[in-house]
Amino acid sequence: DTTPDLKGKKVLITAGPTYEPIDPVRFIGNHSTGKMGFDIANEAAKRGAEVLLITGPTSLKTNNPAVQVKHVVSANDMYQACHEAFQTADIVIGAAAIADYRPKTIASQKIKKSDEEITIVLEKNPDILASLGAVKKQQFLVGFALETENEIEYAKGKLKKKNLDLIVLNSLNDHGAGFGKPTNKVTFIDKDFNIFPQELKSKEAVAKDIIDQIVKNYAE
Ligand code: C5P
Repeated sequence: DTTPDLKGKKVLITAGPTYEPIDPVRFIGNHSTGKMGFDIANEAAKRGAEVLLITGPTSLKTNNPAVQVKHVVSANDMYQACHEAFQTADIVIGAAAIADYRPKTIASQKIKKSDEEITIVLEKNPDILASLGAVKKQQFLVGFALETENEIEYAKGKLKKKNLDLIVLNSLNDHGAGFGKPTNKVTFIDKDFNIFPQELKSKEAVAKDIIDQIVKNYAE
């Protein structure tokens, strides 16, 4: 049986990739499937939370009526949607793989091919979690970090810089972790820099561990 330990809590979760338009038919995207975020949303709902899942383009669906899904496309759309919902949220979990850059101009017509090289100038997207961290009040803020070297140090840096309460570190050095995989191996780092390494597990089981860790820290 599942304890309804998130009953009465509003949980905001971001998931999936973002698509940054180049012209009416093309975009810059990434390989995120959204699975980790959807699994966390389902787990939070199972535990009694009222969940808003803000997701970039994905084929995933949730059939839990306690999960409200809002579909967005670009990082700017996701930024808007997150700030609209942030004020009333108790717990915010940023699991989306947001594009760091977007094309500076979006061509209004399909770009025609020619024999010349073309250049797409990219400008920086906002860091959504950091922007929420900068205005947070009661909210418990959770981020992810995907690192390939100096993992713990870089993750601690992100925790501080984005004003997070908990960070979930994914190591690409761990076989079986990351994009498109059914499994994940994570390490939790809380805001006092306590480190909790976890075993390689299914993403559903990792989602349960994440909610357990949040409940534990949130109570403190
Ligand atoms: O800085 P980095 O991209 O490694 O941080 C990852 C964390 O920050 C994830 O939780 C991700 O959802 C979030 N993020 C964000 N907005 C961005 C980039 C990352 O909210 N533009």
